[in-house]
Amino acid sequence: MKHRLVFFLLVLMACLPFLMGAGKSSIVNSPHNLSVSGMGEIKSLKETRICIFCHSSHNASTEGPLWNHVTTNPGKFKAYERSTMKGLPEQPNGATKLCLSCHDGTVAVGAVHGIPGGIRMQGVGADGTIPPDRRSNRGTDLSGTHPVSIKFKQELALQKSSLRWPPSDPQNEVGVDADGFVQCTSCHDAHGSRSKTLPFWNKETFGQVCQVCHAY
Ligand code: HEC
Ligand code: HEC
Ligand code: HEC
Ligand code: HEC
Repeated sequence: MKHRLVFFLLVLMACLPFLMGAGKSSIVNSPHNLSVSGMGEIKSLKETRICIFCHSSHNASTEGPLWNHVTTNPGKFKAYERSTMKGLPEQPNGATKLCLSCHDGTVAVGAVHGIPGGIRMQGVGADGTIPPDRRSNRGTDLSGTHPVSIKFKQELALQKSSLRWPPSDPQNEVGVDADGFVQCTSCHDAHGSRSKTLPFWNKETFGQVCQVCHAY
């Protein structure tokens, strides 16, 4: 009996961050609600849990916060590259690697740890991935999108007048990650959107996000 109580408390503690979870209500009505109640074309046939596609307190990997999705294999990506660039992006790491685990179109959307064969989905390709004709399938060629997994250092900013140093956002919604990298999450918030027009946007307007790091 006592053991069961201890176990329950441990499970509860593990779930606590989720119970207090950021933006729970907003994800429900977003394309990231991949459960059967989702509003998008890509959603589960039966699964009712929303967070399970990305998080779980069981079997989770250490690649992200209680991360439950099978992650993509870095090494195959073509990074953003221009002669005007002062820094060099790395192969996807941090949150970028987590996002690309669905959005590069190489890993099935329902591929989660702890469910053999994954969660069965509708709206996906035969291999379970986001179909290549959808704009949300970003592929492995990232040369056309804003540089990600790039370290934003002071030396970089000093070499370029269009970069602001230090990047600062009093609301703490936009910026680099704990290791100093620009990631997909510098612009997007996977749990919801503060903008009416931009998908999963960290601020209300386009410019408010850019201004944290750029001075145009
Ligand atoms: C489509 C994927 C996805 C879904 C679904 C999802 N999350 Fe997340 N979540 C993420 C990612 C990615 C991060 C890491 C963000 C980062 O590193 O900046 C994260 C981080 C978190 C964190 C850590 C704090 C933070 O905000 O960075 C909490 C707490 C969290 N999620 C709660 C939830 C809850 C509760 C649900 C279900 C209602 C949920 N998430 C559904 C992708 C998702
Ligand atoms: C578990 C798989 C999964 C993960 C992980 C994931 N997404 Fe998504 N995301 C999806 C699916 C599925 C859609 C819907 C795509 C569609 O309908 O074409 C989507 C849609 C989107 C959209 C478009 C929303 C719109 O309104 O059109 C954006 C932007 C996005 N995701 C960004 C991210 C970012 C940034 C991350 C990482 C922080 C992330 N996603 C992680 C599965 C995922
Ligand atoms: C510098 C800011 C910025 C970064 C970093 C960024 N995005 Fe975006 N993203 C945008 C903007 C702006 C849009 C909307 C306009 C568009 O579609 O090009 C967008 C649109 C999207 C869409 C929706 C496409 C559609 O029309 O359905 C997806 C999915 C997406 N981003 C995923 C990602 C992923 C994954 C990463 C990391 C590899 C990432 N983004 C990094 C700014 C950014
Ligand atoms: C978290 C910080 C951050 C945010 C937010 C951000 N950027 Fe950047 N951006 C950078 C860094 C760092 C570079 C790499 C600069 C280099 O290496 O020369 C960069 C590079 C660029 C480049 C390429 C410059 C070149 O020489 O090819 C463009 C264009 C750009 N950003 C536009 C934007 C826009 C538009 C937004 C808003 C939607 C935005 N950025 C948001 C940090 C950021």
